[in-house]
Amino acid sequence: MSLKTLKTKKELKWSANDIVYQIYPRSFKDTTGNGIGDLQGIIEKLDYLHKILKVDAIWLCPIYKSPMKDFGYDIADYCQIDPLFGNFKLFDNLVKKAHGRGLKILMDFVPNHTSDQHPWFIESRSALKNPKRDWYIWQKPKPDGSPPNNWLSRFGGSAWTFDPKTKQYYLHSFLPCQPDLNWRNPQVQKEMRKILEFWLVKGVDGFRLDALYHIIKDDKFRDNPINPRYIPGHDDPYRQFLNVYDRGRPATLEILNKFCGVIGQHKNKFLVSEVFYQTKVAELKTYYKLCQAGLHAPFNFNFIRLPWSAWAYRSFLDNYEENLSEGDCPNYVLGNHDRSRVASRLESRKKARLLAMLVFTLKGMPFIYYGEEIGMSNVPVKNNEQLDPWGKNVPGFGLGRDAYRTPMQWSAQKYAGFSKTKPWLPVARNYLFFNVKKELADKKSFLSLYRNLISFRKKSKAILEGNYYPLNIRSQNVFAYVRESETEKVLVLLNFASKTQKISLPFAMAELVCNTFLSRKKGQKINLNKLYLKAFEGYLFKLKK
Ligand code: BGC
Repeated sequence: MSLKTLKTKKELKWSANDIVYQIYPRSFKDTTGNGIGDLQGIIEKLDYLHKILKVDAIWLCPIYKSPMKDFGYDIADYCQIDPLFGNFKLFDNLVKKAHGRGLKILMDFVPNHTSDQHPWFIESRSALKNPKRDWYIWQKPKPDGSPPNNWLSRFGGSAWTFDPKTKQYYLHSFLPCQPDLNWRNPQVQKEMRKILEFWLVKGVDGFRLDALYHIIKDDKFRDNPINPRYIPGHDDPYRQFLNVYDRGRPATLEILNKFCGVIGQHKNKFLVSEVFYQTKVAELKTYYKLCQAGLHAPFNFNFIRLPWSAWAYRSFLDNYEENLSEGDCPNYVLGNHDRSRVASRLESRKKARLLAMLVFTLKGMPFIYYGEEIGMSNVPVKNNEQLDPWGKNVPGFGLGRDAYRTPMQWSAQKYAGFSKTKPWLPVARNYLFFNVKKELADKKSFLSLYRNLISFRKKSKAILEGNYYPLNIRSQNVFAYVRESETEKVLVLLNFASKTQKISLPFAMAELVCNTFLSRKKGQKINLNKLYLKAFEGYLFKLKK
């Protein structure tokens, strides 16, 4: 192997405490002037991610060749890069430059469905006897010509579309132009394995597995039962039925196990999977058990769903900490390209700061959704300007995801320094106040909080390795815990209440690392016998060992 290859194929190890930064490439940085982000843009921002934010890995939302009906989650060729984002020369450069900085790359892998423009589907739909017919899920109509069963598409309407040429229906859990693959077909599995290998050879460090809970469906195609709690007109029509037979089937675990088999044959690779109907710790646990330790983690989306109370967060964490075994990698997500930005969901940047302090002081992998670190909020997009097919197909339920996918706010320049042209989605109105450049210069900014927490975390044995001890304190609104290793002890106090809380703890003087508002001087000694936590304020202290 030449020195050059050795350099580009550098192997980076994963750690259970790595910080992963999710990039939605369309919205990260546009360098070609078409209003859409690209690979060169990501390359240009690697130093920001590595030197300023100090994350350890990036997850790239899909960059494969795609008609972009679901903005890349409809793949027409898994082994090509869409020209909108760049080409392999740029991709190789991205891998090389990221790896050169010690940054790992997770590719978004979409195994459940392809685009209807994928050559496999074009073949599959061409004739009943086509060898690829069984690569997708085809069924005869009912005698009256209606779809084979009552399964619904996540993005509106029936999950079945009639194909007049062969007079059968095909299944699509999402858009009609996203036909579901048949994962019971061994050739599909073989082909997918080859694709994973292709990217591993390209040097990627792992994959985020998209929509894994949809991957296997009932082989008898039974109707889903009616959901007795569904309120017509009020609830998203998808909720009419309970998803008993069309997703979350027990065989999902077998498929995940196959992915682990492929990845496990390579050193230093990692998988994180979207199994998001599984939120209970016991259920997450079954996903951990499937693969060798440290190889795979099911996403933990609980911090997106928990009610806002100190007790809810503490109970979840007590349970999570207690149930995960050595080697299971806990992880924390506050938002992503499908979910509201955390500052908007909580309707408060103070609360978002509090959760930042929480995730960066826990053991495990924090996932940062691009822009979260500068306190970006959802950007309202007018109904008639919506681009997301989900919002357009199922109007009236606030399902559109455009608001959380708007351009990254880099500076106070026009279009927030994201692009020189009008971007594909609107830039937040508040970009003059919330942008990387301004926040870097402001010692109390959201970004400064992220930087403070991350720098401290990286050097803190107590956070990276220590045990977690929740404290029973008088104020029920304050979640208090200690993280302690052999050599270091830290204390975290998080006030979930909208009122000041008085704390009295028997730790005497403690050294302040930071408070969430960054209003108090680092390193000062604070008396914990009498401490007032302002509304939604958090404190991180070093305690004497
Ligand atoms: C992705 C979505 C996408 C859907 C269909 C998901 O779970 O995260 O963004 O629209 O899969 O591919």
